[in-house]
Order: sequence, then structure tokens, then C-alpha cells
Amino acid sequence: MSKKNYYITTPIYYPSGKPHMGHAYSSIIADVIARFKRIDGFSVHFLTGTDEHGLKIQREAKKNNKDPKIFCDEISATFKSLAKILNLSNNDFIRTTEDRHYKSVKDIWQKLEQSGDIYLDKYSGWYSVSDEAYYDNDEIEEKNGSKISKISGSKVEWVEEESYFFKLSAWQNKLLKFYNDNPNFILPSSRKNEVVNFVKKGLKDLSVSRTSFTWGIPVPSNKKHVIYVWLDALTNYISALNYPAVENKLYVNFWPADVHIIGKDILRFHAIYWPAFLMAAKLKPPKRVYGHGWILSDDKKMSKSLGNILDPIEIIKNFGVDQLRYYLIKEVSLGNDGSISLINLKNCINNDLANNYGNLCQRVFSFLQKNNSSKIPKPDKFEKEDKILIDELIIKLPKLRKLVDEQDLNSYVKEVISLSFNSNKYFNDLEPWKLKKTNLKRMNTVLYCILNQIRSISILLYPIMPRSIEKTFKIMNQKNSDILLDKIKDFNFLKPDSSINKTDILFKKIDSD
Ligand code: ME8
Ligand code: MG
Repeated sequence: MSKKNYYITTPIYYPSGKPHMGHAYSSIIADVIARFKRIDGFSVHFLTGTDEHGLKIQREAKKNNKDPKIFCDEISATFKSLAKILNLSNNDFIRTTEDRHYKSVKDIWQKLEQSGDIYLDKYSGWYSVSDEAYYDNDEIEEKNGSKISKISGSKVEWVEEESYFFKLSAWQNKLLKFYNDNPNFILPSSRKNEVVNFVKKGLKDLSVSRTSFTWGIPVPSNKKHVIYVWLDALTNYISALNYPAVENKLYVNFWPADVHIIGKDILRFHAIYWPAFLMAAKLKPPKRVYGHGWILSDDKKMSKSLGNILDPIEIIKNFGVDQLRYYLIKEVSLGNDGSISLINLKNCINNDLANNYGNLCQRVFSFLQKNNSSKIPKPDKFEKEDKILIDELIIKLPKLRKLVDEQDLNSYVKEVISLSFNSNKYFNDLEPWKLKKTNLKRMNTVLYCILNQIRSISILLYPIMPRSIEKTFKIMNQKNSDILLDKIKDFNFLKPDSSINKTDILFKKIDSD
């Protein structure tokens, strides 16, 4: 039987400044889901990259006295290196300045021209370079003497120039039907309502080319124009699958995407423009767009322009990559905005990692070293308490899969960490140190059960903390290739009499000052 396929993407980030925690956050979410699907037997394609054209980048390059391509080369490299530091398992990293992407964007433009969805006219209206977005009059307000977008708060400028338009207005009803037929296309559902209401109010045709600057992909039939950076950028999701070669393996296996992970700031582009472009080009829209909330610091959106950035690289240096990954996934409510702070990070590491999962591993492994010559014991008969412990986990599996399929990662972690809590309790309640004197067979069974439980919980934590879990597996003398959800069901998996390795402290406690 062929493997089931799964395609997941992050936004492609603007290389206009160095990457920050918001970028790390989207990427970590996508990585956790990608890794979960892989250990659940899927063939996964996970894409990230950088969005390198448009006025925003052209201006930023100029400010730095650099040619835009050279500027992008430098900053795109820092995004690539962040992906390594975050231990992302992306299969590809796309840059919109690559040939493969040019080919793909030109093709989609021509498809839209051929279908009659593009016409030439003149644009006059508001434009935010920071968002690379057009805004209507009623979306603009005045603040401290400048015009800003009510939606993003960023400055807008007046634009008047010849422009090609995409007939977005003609797609209103088809989009509404599409949302209706695919009720989980936009998640979380609060976001879906925003989009549906916006589309119901009526859609204007969208300006899809610019003539007042040059840093972009030229319109194939009219080189005076460059293609609007969002039409260019969105196409990355298929250019990375070698579109327009629609018969090639990557495209056949992975399009339509299972989920685009994005922040809510770019929902309109992904949930309205993107499916409209694709349908107009007679291509399938993605199956889902998940718009997560913002990471706040001091209750404001963390962003370069606000200067309130927590640097992910700094935090990783001080606390560790898995610690950051775990904290963001567990404590930032995925669908809503969430504040992060060093205090909360430290508490989370201490409570969940050092005192809960880490402690479970530590005490069980040490006990085995001291009392069973570092050998995995042979279990005797499983008793009721053992079965309750084992069953709880097996019964939860379908629910855990469902949570990941709904991108409800907060609930997923909470479920898993409660399993770890219950395992600690089991170990306390059954007191193997006492059994050692009274009932060796029972002690061995309890140890076997708890070891197996550690193995299972570790598999479930692997998508979030891959490096640490590989360590746990190494201590247990297990192969990384056995980090698979299906192996959880086999609770006779561990081989009695095989040895475990020397233990390192998995998660150090942190002084919270
Ligand atoms: O919008 N909290 O790129 P971008 C959470 N190039 N997530 C955040 C965040 C925050 N404070 N700040 C940024 C673009 N993000 C386009 C995308 S896709 C075809 C083109 C994350 O560099 C979040 O995912 O401005 C947000 O949508 C994305 O970074 C915006 O990154
Ligand atoms: Mg942005």
C-alpha cells in the first residue's frame, strides 16, 4: 500500500530584517505537525522559505545600500539558519528569486489571462508597503497626522498608476460556496466568520501589478509591469512542487496542500485571494488555512516596527531549543493572541519538563541502575493498576490524532503531559522500592510497565521535542526508527534483559529569579 501524503507549509517570510519569535512560532507549529504526521506513517512534505520581491524589500535594500538580490541572499540565509537552529524538519526551503518560482508565477499569470480573469486599467487608492496590501477608504484612519490602516496599524500611501486587475468581484459567490462546502477550510472557526463576513460585503477587483518600481517578476506580456508581490508569493506553495509540471510526482502527491500554517495578519490573502487565483487558474485550492494568533510581548504584537522583540536565538542559547518549542506550543493559545515572558518560560520548563516528564525518566532510569543492574526487567502478570495506566494511553490515541488534525496543539500537549503526570503517580503509589523487599516479581512488572509508559509518552512528545526524545531513546537503547505512533500499541515492545545506558539529566531546573 502506498503511503498517505501530507503537505504542510509555513508562510514564506520577508527577508526585510532578521527573523524573530513570531517567525519561529509559525515554523515550530508547522514542524510539530509535520513530525507528528511522519511518525504516524504519512509521507510528509514540509515547506518554508522567503518572500523576496516587492517594494518593501526594494526599499529596505536601498536603505542598506545594497542590491536587492544581494540583500535578500544575506537575510534569507539567516532564515535558513534559524530553521536549523529550531531543528525544523522542512523538506525544502523556497526563495521567490529562484528560477523554478519565476517559471511557476509566469505560468499562473498566463492561466489567469487566458481565463479572462485579468484586465488592464488604472489603480488609485491606498497601499501599505509594510503589509504589501491595498486598503479601501473605509479601512483607513488618521493617526498623528498620517494615514494608517485600521486593520494592521501600518502606514499607507496613495498610489495612482496603470495596473492589471484580477476580477476578484466575480469570485464572491464561488468563494462563499467553497467556504460552505468546506467548513473546515479556515480554522479556527472564529477566523472563518471574519472571512465569510468580509466576502459577503462584496469584493472589489484586485490590482495585481505595479509599474512604479521594478523589483519583482515582470508580467510576461508587458514588461513595464511587475506582478503584485502577493500573487507572486502565494504561488510559492505550488512552485515548490514544480508547478506547472502538474504531472510530476511532487505535485501529484502533495497538491492540494493539507494545511497552510499562517498568522492571522495574512488570512485575507490566503483565504480569499489564494483560492480565487487557484480556482481561476483551474487548480485546486488548499484543504485548509490555519490562522494562528499573535505572540505578544508587553501585550503588543511582537514586531520589528514596534521594537519589542524577544530573540529566539538568544532564548535557545540560554534555555535550549526543545524548551522553547515546548513552551510555545504548550502555553501560547494557538488560535488566540498570547503573551510570552521569561518568567513563564522558566516556570514551564521547571513544572512540565524538569519536575514532570524529566523527573519521571530520571527516577525510573536511576532506580533501574541501582536495583536492576541497568537491565530492563521481565514482567510478570499485569495487574489492574497496570492495565489502567496502559489503557489510558491506548484509548487516548485516536483523540490525540484528531487534536493534531484540527491543529489543536495546546490540548494535545496537555493530554500528553497529564499522561506523564499519571505515570509519576503510578510509580509513587506502587512504591517499587518497597516491592524490592517484598515482591520482586511485582517490582519487575511495575518497572516494565513504567518503562513502557516512558517509551510511549516519549513518542508522543517527539514531535515537540525531537532532540530530547532522541536522547531518552538513546538511554533506553531504542532505535530512533522506532519512534512511531503505531509502536505504542505494542506494550511488549521492550526486550527484557537488554540494558539501558547511562543517564544524563534531560531537563535541568532553572532558578526563577
Ligand atoms: O507576511 N506572532 O511575511 P512576514 C505570531 N511574506 N506570528 C508572527 C508574528 C507574531 N508577533 N509576527 C510574524 C509575510 N509572525 C509574507 C507572507 S506567505 C505566501 C507570504 C508570523 O515576514 C506569522 O506567521 O511579515 C505571520 O503571518 C508571518 O510571520 C508574517 O511574516
Ligand atoms: Mg509582516
